[in-house]
Amino acid sequence: MRLLVLGGTKFLGRATVDAALARGHDVTLFNRGQTNPELYPAVEKIRGDRTEDLSALGGSEWDAVLDMATFLPRAVRLSVEALRGVTRYVYISSVSAYAAHSTPEEQVEGAPVEELDDPGAEDLEHYGALKAVCESIVDGAFGDRALIVRPGLIVGPHDPTDRFTYWPRRIAAGGHVLAPGAPQDPVQFVDVRDLGDWIVRATENGLSGVYNATGEVMTFQEFLDKCLRVTGSEARLTWVPSDYLLGEGVEEWMGVPLWIASPGWQAANSVPVSKATAAGLTFRPLAETIADTLAWDAQRELPRAEGVGLSPEREQELLARA
Ligand SMILES: NC(=O)c1ccc[n+]([C@@H]2O[C@H](COP(=O)([O-])OP(=O)(O)OC[C@H]3O[C@@H](n4cnc5c(N)ncnc54)[C@H](OP(=O)(O)O)[C@@H]3O)[C@@H](O)[C@H]2O)c1
Repeated sequence: MRLLVLGGTKFLGRATVDAALARGHDVTLFNRGQTNPELYPAVEKIRGDRTEDLSALGGSEWDAVLDMATFLPRAVRLSVEALRGVTRYVYISSVSAYAAHSTPEEQVEGAPVEELDDPGAEDLEHYGALKAVCESIVDGAFGDRALIVRPGLIVGPHDPTDRFTYWPRRIAAGGHVLAPGAPQDPVQFVDVRDLGDWIVRATENGLSGVYNATGEVMTFQEFLDKCLRVTGSEARLTWVPSDYLLGEGVEEWMGVPLWIASPGWQAANSVPVSKATAAGLTFRPLAETIADTLAWDAQRELPRAEGVGLSPEREQELLARA
């Protein structure tokens, strides 16, 4: 296929381009040339700012456009307009588009999505609602030629957010580790390479409609035990109840990565994925994701994300008082 990738050089876009090239597709990248411009020297690159002007794209000679990384409706409006002659439009949305997250059923494809209360909003606070608006623009323009992918937490090498990366790194460092909540609490994420590969195969197969795309649910205990095994660490875990952490003002999700405790979000780590797995989404062994993430982290090209995870001092202070 001739694939036009809007983005393609940071994290999920990068893994998707890797998969597309590995599967023999003819890839064109459209981006500003600011993020990792040295990547893919043999790939055709068209430069431009998608929020302003897509005229550099010219015609619509592609079999599919893979729209990797925007939550701005005006950017999506510009691209569906410029690319209306393309056969297929794949838009990467998010499970954050769902209106509610307290049960898995509220996050099944077809469940209600967020509504945008402020039509002028373009900030991360409205991320889920903006993603939902972007989806509806793509759906309105491409109908059954549109594939909407809703990922959950995406993890693995080149992850700029460090949320998943915190855990393998923390366990590898050893010592006394604060494990949040209860051992049976769910966690859920997808390896960026599994997701990128599936996006390409789903595009090849002409899949259309909405698909959640994240990993199978596992317990926090299973996840941390796997980190212990892969790293060979002798770290000691102490499970610290969510109520105590919330009372201490610890921030969910970022302050202690992957930990969610607030009412209304109980099922954020329990998103149904059977529709995507029936359509070919597969998962590599967790041990591989952990090992590859650690290997990447040890020689990372990115600075560490700020405000993600507990500092060693804060962790020990919380443990001492728990
Ligand atoms: N991370 C998660 O856990 C998670 C979870 C759910 C959903 N998602 C979604 O998954 C996607 C991940 O995106 P990614 O950042 O990994 O994608 P990516 O395609 O790897 O990287 C972002 C690309 O966008 C380009 N870009 C940024 N601003 C641009 C502009 N104004 N005009 C043209 N190109 C522009 C960047 O290049 P230049 O800077 O060179 O322009 C870069 O190539 C997003 O849609 C996100 O909402 C993520």
